[in-house]
This record gives sequence, structure tokens and C-alpha cells, in this order.
Amino acid sequence: MKKSTILIIVSVVVIIPLFLLGISINENLAAQEAINAVPQIAKFESRSSEWGKNFPREYDSYLQTKKSDQITDVLKKDPALVVLWAGYGFSKDYNAPRGHAYALEDNINSLRTGAPVDGNSGPMPTACWTCKSPDVPRLIDQKGELDYFTGKWARFGNEIVNPIGCADCHDNQTMKLTVTRDYLKRGLDAEGSLKYADASHQEMRTLVCAQCHAEYYFKKTEWTDPNGEKKNAAVVTFPWDNGFSAEAMEAYYDQIDFADWTHQLSKAQMLKAQHPGYETFITGIHGQNGLACADCHMPYVREGGIKYSSHNVRSPLENMENTCLNCHGKNEKEFKAIVERKLERKNEMSRTAMSVLAQAHLEAAKAWELGATAEEMELALQDIRHGQWRWDFSIAAHGSFFHAPEETLRVLGSAINKAQDARIKLRLILAKYNAGDYVVPDFSSKEKAQAVIGLPYDKLIEEKMQFLNGLRQDWVKQAKDKGLFDPKSTEELVFKVSYQ
Ligand code: HEC
Ligand code: HEC
Ligand code: HEC
Ligand code: HEC
Repeated sequence: MKKSTILIIVSVVVIIPLFLLGISINENLAAQEAINAVPQIAKFESRSSEWGKNFPREYDSYLQTKKSDQITDVLKKDPALVVLWAGYGFSKDYNAPRGHAYALEDNINSLRTGAPVDGNSGPMPTACWTCKSPDVPRLIDQKGELDYFTGKWARFGNEIVNPIGCADCHDNQTMKLTVTRDYLKRGLDAEGSLKYADASHQEMRTLVCAQCHAEYYFKKTEWTDPNGEKKNAAVVTFPWDNGFSAEAMEAYYDQIDFADWTHQLSKAQMLKAQHPGYETFITGIHGQNGLACADCHMPYVREGGIKYSSHNVRSPLENMENTCLNCHGKNEKEFKAIVERKLERKNEMSRTAMSVLAQAHLEAAKAWELGATAEEMELALQDIRHGQWRWDFSIAAHGSFFHAPEETLRVLGSAINKAQDARIKLRLILAKYNAGDYVVPDFSSKEKAQAVIGLPYDKLIEEKMQFLNGLRQDWVKQAKDKGLFDPKSTEELVFKVSYQ
């Protein structure tokens, strides 16, 4: 073979692929640079598709949260809940969480938010929007925090129209992670073990989630508007002054004599735990070892040579090779079995707690009916309040059975103990009124339990459908006219609820 032929062959076999590789590296570099570059995004831009133009990978993976679309009716699975929450919205409708893309839909469609007929009608306050949408920081900036937290939920139906999105967690100028809800900063500073100003980058990968996955209550706050008019705000507040544990928050609520509602049956002054995901996570082995929420729920993934964070926030068990198996040597099957077993242990304890708490409420109702006095009932009702708070604290953040199994089971144990303390006291009272052998009514299905508490379920659904077909449609139209609505956010969403 001639030298020139050899040279040509060499160039075909070696040089051209090298050249192509060069191009591909350059392309990857360009794409990686685009990821790192700082785009022009308007302040408080709540339409995620606008951010997505600059960050297609993050945006596309974010849109995948639409795939987590199943409705699981938890009241059907655990009918005792209807009794536990009698007189409170959760007894009407309560589903397991699904993807972030549904946050707004689910809030609007829930029977809990009722059927307002105009911007001033109830039942919920504006605060109920707070962990559902990037339109919230936009409104808070526009109106001021106290004004935002004043009035009924329906007041902002035509303003809060985009589900959880980029502007909830990112700064528009630097793309850095940022906390857009000041009540988290105040909560951290009051608790003291991690001041917001000292948070590291790794901690920010948790704190952006803690804005919403945390325990809160609506603090009544009186203020005066610029016209001198006195107003009442319901401000989302984290009860962390005494610490993050169930007992520390219980003491906080007791000190300020706070109750979310008066129980319809037992008349106990109740607390509704929201979802203390952050508080419980940091007590667990992964929290203690410095992992962040994003390590498991938003892992780095590779596409060609590009590395980015998956924004498909979901169960890590659906993506084990990029999460658990990055750090652990086990195989998927073994690991799923371990997590499954942790869930069963929690469920066993939680079901026991729900059953004894529901019986305590019904026994208390019977005692009232027979003429028991407030003085006789006081200590039993205090035990019910504390027992139910502790049970709710342990299970309301749905991942706590895995994030912090020991703490979850410990608090569930103390919940059962408190509830049984209440029942011993109530049995003594019942005996005094000749009803020591009282048998509570059957609450073994959602229908039976709703009948026990006299919930007008069909009426609630009828009113809700009127609202969804009426005022709700006006809100969408008005938001479109204002240019706030992002059509991409609801593309392919199918209407799913537990009651239809
Ligand atoms: C602005 C509030 C908000 C922020 C910030 C937020 N979440 Fe959520 N998250 C929610 C709400 C609300 C839901 C329930 C949505 C539904 O069921 O419609 C949810 C649901 C979830 C789910 C269940 C998803 C599924 O498919 O079942 C997971 C997991 C989750 N969030 C983790 C996180 C993590 C991790 C972060 C931080 C990276 C985070 N969230 C940040 C409000 C928020
Ligand atoms: C719930 C909070 C949250 C939301 C909502 C969110 N991000 Fe992120 N984002 C994160 C976290 C956490 C990281 C990881 C940051 C890190 O490790 O440096 C991240 C990283 C990024 C990065 C840096 C590169 C990368 O992939 O690691 C970009 C760009 C980005 N997000 C864009 C977006 C866009 C666009 C949206 C809206 C479609 C969005 N994010 C929505 C929390 C969020
Ligand atoms: C070490 C990995 C890991 C870390 C870190 C982690 N989680 Fe989880 N999380 C899980 C697993 C595993 C589950 C259970 C998933 C399942 O049952 O499918 C879960 C469940 C959840 C759920 C319930 C999802 C559902 O649909 O029921 C939420 C919400 C959640 N985590 C939020 C968070 C938040 C917020 C943080 C940080 C404070 C966090 N997680 C940190 C692994 C992790
Ligand atoms: C970033 C690394 C990392 C990731 C990702 C991770 N882990 Fe871990 N995991 C750890 C560390 C560190 C420990 C503590 C090990 C020790 O102290 O021996 C641990 C401990 C554990 C333990 C033993 C403690 C216990 O509670 O029983 C289990 C089980 C476990 N991890 C399961 C998982 C599962 C399931 C996932 C995925 C959802 C996961 N881990 C994701 C780092 C990780």
C-alpha cells in the first residue's frame, strides 16, 4: 500500500472521529455554559415556561411531575380519619400527595376549599394558597405580607394561577437557590440552630423544600391599612421557637393557647399537624449525615455529556440508580423491601393510634351527652389534644416513616399512650353516668364514618361542582386577560378527584 493511501485511511479512521468528538465536546460545553449562564428573566416571573426557554432540561423534567397523577382517597383507606377530623375540612376530602404540577388543581378541586361564590366568601383564608404557587411571592411583593394574608381564599382566585414552579426556588437574576417565603427565615432564626444567613449551599438544597414541607399555623395578626382601617391577617407561621420536636411544638401551641378547631364530637381544642417534613427529616440518619432533600428527590442525571438536576420531584424509589444506589451497595429489590417494611411498621402503629383516638372522641361525645361537666372532661380532652397532635405530627409528612423511622415510631408510641390515658379517664366518667359499658358506633367505612359525624357529603359535592363550573372558570378567564396564566401548566392535566 502506498504511504498516501495509508495516510488517507489513518485520517478517516482517527482524525475524523477526533474531529467529530471535538464538535460534540464543544456542543456539550456550549450546552453546559447555557445551563450555567444567567438569563434575562423578569422578577417574579411565575410562568415556568418562560424560565424553561433558557433551561429546557430542567423544564422538561419538571413537566414530568404531571405523570404522578393518581388520586388516592386516604379517607377511604382509613375511615377513622373522618372521626378524628370531625368539624374540620379534612373530614370532607383528603388525598395522598401527587406531583408538583397538580398542587394548584388539587387545592382548588378539594372539598376542603369549599364553594365560594365571590371574592369575599369562605371558608378558607388566603393563606391556603401559600405553598401552591410562585404567584404567592409575586403577590406578597406587590401587596405586602400582611395584606396578602388578609381576606378569604377566593380573593386571589384570579391571581394565583400557576402551580409550584421555578420562581418558588430560584433567583431570577443569578439562578441561585433562594427562599421566597420569609416565614421560613423567621422560623429558622427563632429556633436558632441554623440561622438562615448561615445556610450553606447544601442546606439550601433542603431549605427550598422546607418552605412548604414544614409544620405551620395561621397566626392571627391585627394590622392597620394605609387608610387607617383595622384588618385581621392570618399569617403562615412556623411554631419553632422551642425547637423542632413534637413536644417542643406542642408546648409552643399550649403556651399561646392555640387551636386549629374545636372538635365536633369531643369538643377538644384540636391541633392539625400539617406536614413537618423538614423537622422530622433532620432527626433521621440521612439528615444527620448531611444529605439534602434534593439528593434523593432531585438527583443529578446525565444526558450525553451534560449533567443537570432532575426536576421531576417524585419518589426516589422510581429512580433508584440515580439516588440510593449512588451511595449504597444493595440491589433495588432488597432496598425496596427495606423501605416497604418501614412503611408497614409505621402503618401498624398509626392504625392503632387512629383507632384509639377515634374511640376517645366518640366516648367523649357520649359523656357530654350524658351531662358530664367541663371540669370533669378537661384533663381527658387535653390528652386527646396531645395524642392526636403527636399521631398527626408523625404521619402527616408522608415520607417520615423512611426519613426518620425511629422518631416517627417514638412519637406514635407516645400518641397511643396519650389517647389511652384519655380513654381511661373517659371510662371513669362514663361509669359515673352509668354508661361504663358504652360501645362506640361503627366507623369502619368512609360512608359509615361520615354518617356518624353527620357530614352532608352530597350537598358539598353539588356546591363544589357549581363553583368549579362557574366562578372557577371566570378566574381562569380573568387570569388569561391579565397575562398571568401559563397555558403550558395545565396542558394534558386531566380532572381527577375522589368524589366524582
Ligand atoms: C411552594 C411549595 C412547595 C415547595 C417549594 C416544594 N413542595 Fe413538594 N409538594 C408541595 C405540595 C403542595 C405537594 C402536593 C401536591 C399535590 O398533591 O397536588 C407536594 C408534593 C411533593 C411530593 C410528592 C410527589 C408525588 O409524586 O407523590 C414530593 C416527593 C415532594 N413534594 C418533595 C419536595 C421536595 C424534595 C422539594 C424541594 C426540592 C419540594 N417538594 C418543594 C409543595 C411544595
Ligand atoms: C422546589 C424547588 C425548585 C424548583 C420549583 C425548581 N428548581 Fe431548579 N433547582 C432546584 C435545586 C434544589 C437545584 C440543585 C441546585 C444545586 O445543586 O446547585 C436546582 C438546580 C437548577 C439549575 C442548575 C443546574 C442544574 O440542573 O443543577 C437550573 C438551571 C434550574 N434549577 C432551573 C430550574 C427551572 C427552569 C425551573 C422551573 C421549570 C426550576 N429550576 C424549578 C430547586 C428547584
Ligand atoms: C435518603 C433519601 C431521601 C432524602 C434525603 C429525602 N427523602 Fe423524601 N422520601 C424518600 C423515600 C425513599 C420516600 C418514600 C417514597 C415512597 O414511599 O415511594 C420519601 C417520601 C417523601 C415524601 C412523600 C411522597 C409521597 O408521595 O407520599 C415527601 C413529601 C418527601 N419525601 C419530601 C422530602 C423532603 C422535603 C426532604 C428533605 C427535608 C426529603 N424528602 C429528603 C427518600 C428521601
Ligand atoms: C448521598 C448518599 C446517600 C443516598 C443518595 C442515600 N443514602 Fe442511605 N445512607 C447514607 C448514609 C451516609 C447513611 C448512614 C450510614 C451509616 O451511618 O452507617 C445511610 C443509611 C441508610 C440506611 C440505614 C439506616 C436506616 O435508617 O435503616 C438505609 C436503610 C438507607 N440508607 C437507605 C437508603 C435508600 C432506600 C436510599 C434511596 C431512597 C438512600 N439510602 C439514599 C447515604 C445515602
